[in-house]
Amino acid sequence: MTSAQPTQIPQEMPALVRRRYGPPEVVMLETRPVPRPKRNEVLLRVHAASVNTADWRLRAGAFPGILAVPARAMFGILRPRNPYIGTEFAGEVVAVGQDVSRFRPGDRVFGIAQAGGASAGYLAVPQDGPIAEIPARLDYAQAAALPFGGLCALCFLADFARLGAAQRLLVIGASGGVGIYAVQIGKALGAEVTGVCGSANIDFIRDLGADHQIAHDLVRQDAWPGGQDVILDTIGLLAPTAARRLLAPGGQFFPLNFGLREFGAAFANPFRARKTRIATSPDRAEDLQRLVQMVEAGQFTPVIGHRFALAQAQDAHRLVETRHRRGAVVLDVSAPD
Ligand SMILES: NC(=O)c1ccc[n+]([C@@H]2O[C@H](COP(=O)([O-])OP(=O)(O)OC[C@H]3O[C@@H](n4cnc5c(N)ncnc54)[C@H](OP(=O)(O)O)[C@@H]3O)[C@@H](O)[C@H]2O)c1
Repeated sequence: MTSAQPTQIPQEMPALVRRRYGPPEVVMLETRPVPRPKRNEVLLRVHAASVNTADWRLRAGAFPGILAVPARAMFGILRPRNPYIGTEFAGEVVAVGQDVSRFRPGDRVFGIAQAGGASAGYLAVPQDGPIAEIPARLDYAQAAALPFGGLCALCFLADFARLGAAQRLLVIGASGGVGIYAVQIGKALGAEVTGVCGSANIDFIRDLGADHQIAHDLVRQDAWPGGQDVILDTIGLLAPTAARRLLAPGGQFFPLNFGLREFGAAFANPFRARKTRIATSPDRAEDLQRLVQMVEAGQFTPVIGHRFALAQAQDAHRLVETRHRRGAVVLDVSAPD
């Protein structure tokens, strides 16, 4: 049994799909049926979605390192099992299943669609998944820009690294999707933050709060400052040996993308004063709630670098794949009534 749908919800919606793994051109805008919420699901009218590195990897089937094997097994070995794409969303609840108690129609919510399908006019997601009310000071586009990078930066810095006041943090990829949050959350946790990005983005990361800035196209890696307590590499740039040279004793290196080399380094941790830590960030509602509290306390704010219409999604995917986006890439989703 599902809840009755109010009459103003249309039968059909625009939705981004890809029926095979491939370049941005496989992303197609189609007209699809509006989903009906199950008993424990909320149905949202999506106002904004975003395109992040996970969306790019899921679209292309390009999973990094040894993650390729479990990821292909999970999402489809030769072609994607689920054609709908899009992980981050922000929208308004328009209907709820009969068991839903956390949300009601009219609520402004944002989060992560773990089964995909966020880049569409409507989306049905479980009420107990990674979903939360949008902070009052954010609009839909800002809220859609928050979950992927915000959750990753929060979990890695606050929970895994236990970054503390006066510690030194090096963020590689500081102007990118995760980096913009890592810089701001690092500052909120009291760290001294050094950001690495291209020379065109140095002023941008200074404005975000980075105490020191390094242009990767001007300064060679062996001239980067050492004595770091935590290194977050969002790009997959540093080898563990190079990271250890930049760490202080007791320091920790977090490569967000990892393969056999990083696992090998992590195995040797008991014998080393400078550790390589392998972790994945969970997508949890309680962590979204922590982000909401930090946003409400003025500790950081989402940064949107690029906005596209849903029909321009191929361009958005193309940009994300360059690894040179600045902040979040948001799709303005307009669903017909
Ligand atoms: N382990 C986990 O649980 C987890 C969770 C979430 C995400 N991830 C992974 O983390 C990564 C997050 O990436 P993202 O979305 O933040 O990436 P992104 O947005 O593509 O990163 C772009 C940033 O990297 C910089 N950059 C590009 N080339 C560089 C180079 N050669 N040297 C140094 N910096 C360079 C860019 O600077 P310029 O443009 O200024 O050059 C920009 O600051 C993804 O690969 C994702 O799969 C892992």
